[in-house]
Amino acid sequence: MEFRRINGLPPYVFATINDLKASARRAGRDVIDLGFGNPDLPSPDVAVGKLAEAAYNPRNHRYSASRGIPKLRSAITGLYQRKFGVELDPETEVVTTIGAKEGFSHLMWVLVGPGDTALVPSPSYPIHIWGPLFAGADVRQVPLQGPGTVSDDAPDPGEAFFEGLMHAWEESWPKPRVIVLSFPHNPTTACVDISFMERLVAFAREHEVVLVHDFAYADLGFDGYRPPSILEVPGATDVAVEIYTMTKSFSMAGWRVGFVVGNREIVQALTKLKTYLDYGTFQPIQIAAIVAMNEAPDYPKEINQIYKSRRDTLCDGLNRIGWHLVPPKGTMFVWAPIPEPYREMGSLEFSKYLVSEADVATSPGIGFGPGGDSHVRFALIENEQRIGQAVRHLRSALTKLG
Ligand SMILES: Cc1ncc(COP(=O)(O)O)c(C=O)c1O
Repeated sequence: MEFRRINGLPPYVFATINDLKASARRAGRDVIDLGFGNPDLPSPDVAVGKLAEAAYNPRNHRYSASRGIPKLRSAITGLYQRKFGVELDPETEVVTTIGAKEGFSHLMWVLVGPGDTALVPSPSYPIHIWGPLFAGADVRQVPLQGPGTVSDDAPDPGEAFFEGLMHAWEESWPKPRVIVLSFPHNPTTACVDISFMERLVAFAREHEVVLVHDFAYADLGFDGYRPPSILEVPGATDVAVEIYTMTKSFSMAGWRVGFVVGNREIVQALTKLKTYLDYGTFQPIQIAAIVAMNEAPDYPKEINQIYKSRRDTLCDGLNRIGWHLVPPKGTMFVWAPIPEPYREMGSLEFSKYLVSEADVATSPGIGFGPGGDSHVRFALIENEQRIGQAVRHLRSALTKLG
């Protein structure tokens, strides 16, 4: 049968590693899973309690509002006010989405169609590339580097990316309608500061292009680094929308609660589209999400601290065994350049090798686009003791590191 949108999709390379992991586990091996970015930390207790309570109320069993109940939209505007000093109107500048992924996908339907182009970082979280493509648009990928292997002489990732964007803009005709951003960045862990956002907002205002900032790692910044919201830039709402999700910040991945906030026209257009597509997130979940934001506002800081400690354990360990890399300033990942003696294997073969020889699952960089093939991504979703164990296994398996 012919499925026009589906047939063009390449095989999902992460599935290959998952299958290998599953068969190794079936064979009784204890694979340490640092592959999929699926948080292992519990959601806040207050949210779980509220969910249970609200689920018993039959009034909450009906269809909910696809744009989110008013108190949920007010909770996110409260969070933006507290955290970023950004004022948003809960009536017109916020729409609730079924996680960031759904929000991003349908946002692309709103923003682009056949004949349009989106500029997207490379490598990328897969839906950043596939979202515009599913909407019928073209994608032009702009190289983005991670922090590299040596801190001192590594180029600033934001600076190089900005130049790449300008170059891609110059070369594109018709001019791109959308620039997709996401910092701290998955998978490269690249981070930017507010001056990067300021320059992009100025550019977007001048050239009438829309900025979409997926802020999935809003609360995961380390060593004094605080990820900036694009909406902190004065006038950003003229040209930008931002996606905030409770997945990583509140460790509420399975709950599917995200938001698109910012430019009123875009938010309203997405709100309209969603009335055709869904009836919103199950209302008890929305109620519990309100409680999480209002009654556990410091939970993201606790989560942040745990990922930071795991990052330290992994990066210190890898550096000690001769796998040199710069620790990321944000995200829940470590984007590791494949060590020189193994580089020619490519990321898929190298990831497979790590499962079979070290019982460690990673994500092959090629799964994030061709720009990722020189790296593998570790997700910090096991505890420090298990991460320490992973490092010991890697030391035994990577004999060529000397
Ligand atoms: C950049 C980025 N956006 C979105 C998501 C998914 O967020 P959600 O669970 O809210 O759909 C992820 C998850 O890994 C991500 O890395």
